[in-house]
Amino acid sequence: MTEIPELTGERVHLRAFTNADLDAYAAMSADAEVMRYIGDGQPVGRDIAWRQMAAFLGHWALRGYGMWAVEDRASGRLLGRAGFLNPEGWPGLELGWLLAREHWGRGLAHEAAALALGWGRRHIDGIGGLISLIRPDNRRSAALAGRLGAALDDQIELLGGPAQVWRYRDGAVTG
Ligand SMILES: CC(C)(COP(=O)(O)OP(=O)(O)OC[C@H]1O[C@@H](n2cnc3c(N)ncnc32)[C@H](O)[C@@H]1OP(=O)(O)O)[C@@H](O)C(=O)NCCC(=O)NCCS
Repeated sequence: MTEIPELTGERVHLRAFTNADLDAYAAMSADAEVMRYIGDGQPVGRDIAWRQMAAFLGHWALRGYGMWAVEDRASGRLLGRAGFLNPEGWPGLELGWLLAREHWGRGLAHEAAALALGWGRRHIDGIGGLISLIRPDNRRSAALAGRLGAALDDQIELLGGPAQVWRYRDGAVTG
C-alpha cells in the first residue's frame, strides 16, 4: 500500500483522510455554495461524502498520488481537500481544491495547492501534463489556478457541462 505523504506549510498541514474527518467533510459537501461548481453542481449527502473519502484513499493506493485532507495547523480542524485527481476516464492529471466556505479568502487553498504542486513536481511522472478543470463561472478557482502559474488552454464538456482546462507550465511554483 502506498504511504500517503504529509506536507506542512506555514498555516496548513496536508495528510491522508481518516474516518474522523467525516463530520467536517460531510458538512462542506452538504453546502450548496461550496458544491456549486463541483461535479453536477449539487450538494451530496453524508453517505456519498464517506465514499469520496474512501475513493481518495483508494486513488493513492492505485495511482501513487492523490488528494490530501487539508488541516488547519493551529487548530487541527479540517479545512477541506487539495491534491491530485486522475480517475479512470478523466480528461487528465488534475490538481484540485475545495475548502469549507468559512475558510475562503485567506490564501489557504493557495498554500495547500502550492504544497501539493511542489510534491507532484518531485514525485509524479507525467506532471508536465498537469491541468485544472474549472467551470467557467468559478472565478475564485480560476484566480487560484492563475496564481499557481496555470493558463487557460481549452474548454471541454465534463459531467454534462462546460469546463475550462487550465494548463500548468513546468517550474512555475516549487511549494
Ligand atoms: C476555489 C476555492 C478553493 C478558492 O478559495 P480562496 O480562498 O479564494 O483561494 P486562495 O487560497 O487562493 O485565497 C485567495 C484569497 O485570499 C486572500 N488572501 C488573504 N491572505 C492571503 C495570503 N496570505 N496569501 C494569498 N492570498 C491571501 C486573497 O487576497 C484572495 O482574496 P479575494 O478572494 O478577496 O480576492 C474556494 O472558493 C472553494 O473551495 N470553492 C468551492 C469548491 C470549488 O469550487 N473548488 C474548485 C473546483 S474547480
